[in-house]
Amino acid sequence: MGMIGGGKGALIGAVHRTSADITGDIELVAGAFSSDANASRAFGVDLGLAPNRAYGSFAEMLEREASLPEDERIQCVSIVTPNDSHADAACAALAAGFHVICDKPLAGHLEDALRIEKAVANSGLLFGLTHPYTGHPLAIEAREQIAAGEIGDIRRVTVSYLQDWLSREEDTKASKQAIWRSDPARSGESGAFADIGTHAFHLVEFMTGLNITEVAAELRTVVPGRTIDDDGAAMFHLANGASGVLSASQVCSGALNALRIEIYGDVGSIFWAQESPNSMTIKLRGQPDQVLRPGSNAAYLSELTIAACRTPGGHPKGYLEAFANLYAGFARAVRNYPAHGDTGCASVEDGVAGMRFIRAALISSRNQSAWTRLDGVST
Ligand SMILES: NC(=O)c1ccc[n+]([C@@H]2O[C@H](COP(=O)([O-])OP(=O)(O)OC[C@H]3O[C@@H](n4cnc5c(N)ncnc54)[C@H](O)[C@@H]3O)[C@@H](O)[C@H]2O)c1
Repeated sequence: MGMIGGGKGALIGAVHRTSADITGDIELVAGAFSSDANASRAFGVDLGLAPNRAYGSFAEMLEREASLPEDERIQCVSIVTPNDSHADAACAALAAGFHVICDKPLAGHLEDALRIEKAVANSGLLFGLTHPYTGHPLAIEAREQIAAGEIGDIRRVTVSYLQDWLSREEDTKASKQAIWRSDPARSGESGAFADIGTHAFHLVEFMTGLNITEVAAELRTVVPGRTIDDDGAAMFHLANGASGVLSASQVCSGALNALRIEIYGDVGSIFWAQESPNSMTIKLRGQPDQVLRPGSNAAYLSELTIAACRTPGGHPKGYLEAFANLYAGFARAVRNYPAHGDTGCASVEDGVAGMRFIRAALISSRNQSAWTRLDGVST
């Protein structure tokens, strides 16, 4: 694997490297880690890469790697740069013949997301988007139980992703992560809704197996001096007519990574929260609550859930292992290519849907929260 982004002091690059490593199936052998050529090369060497594969730019990496014999060159590229460069990096990697795993949101703008979708289709190569919460065993179990009809027909979903790290004026410039996320030129058309709202959006579609079709949203900028949303909520409808509410905010004091979801059907409901990912509650009307725990030896869980557990019950599974499950699926798909297309990650179409969700929420918010269809947003 070659990496684009994730240089010294970066937030998610190291998480991707550790997660890829946990799979035991992926080796990082090349990278362009920074837009500063010298910093990029130096960091690659610090990571232990061969100096001639610690590149100064992603263009250089893609060109040199593509010229190596097939059994020596990288097979895939991991993109962990800020949102504004996802599209250029992904399209260049696909054009050079490499499979791509990319962090969310798919791009800064819907137009760039559609550019990536086209490049994936034209190349016939694999593309995986990393929404890591869907790699948790019990997130998979929720999807399996809902698909099996355990809670009946879905009627209502409540989902929220709340953080507090951008709560104050001084937070906007407190870290490089905060600086680019608060800058529309780098974050893209949205702030909090793109950064964490898309996780909540994808979790709803992943667990319910239903698409969000329309939203009525209010996006706000709470902290003075900011020019991008840092807080918001959207009512939404699912394809079966069910209703939901999604909140995404980075100004909720005291909240860390409070991603929580409740899904109600006509038979029962499911509750899961990523800060306590090792328990999921199922409530069936008139019966005592059931609390499920993940474990490779928990025979009452689905096969897919058990396959996502690396340890028996009682040993907590965490964020890095959930992330590693995405990498494991991606590595399997690369090995099987072109036989099986499923990367186990979110697809490029899921990523485009996330960008349509952001665009529709922004349009709705500007129009006094008018209901806005995702498939109707223009580019
Ligand atoms: N899946 C998740 O849970 C999750 C969590 C955090 C961040 N993210 C996403 O990951 C991406 C990166 O976020 P971050 O917080 O790690 O950002 P960051 O600012 O910490 O790191 C970005 C890195 O990319 C490098 N970079 C920038 N432009 C580059 C270029 N042209 N070529 C090579 N390297 C370049 C920077 O030098 C830096 O090292 C964003 O899209 C963000 O939304 C996802």
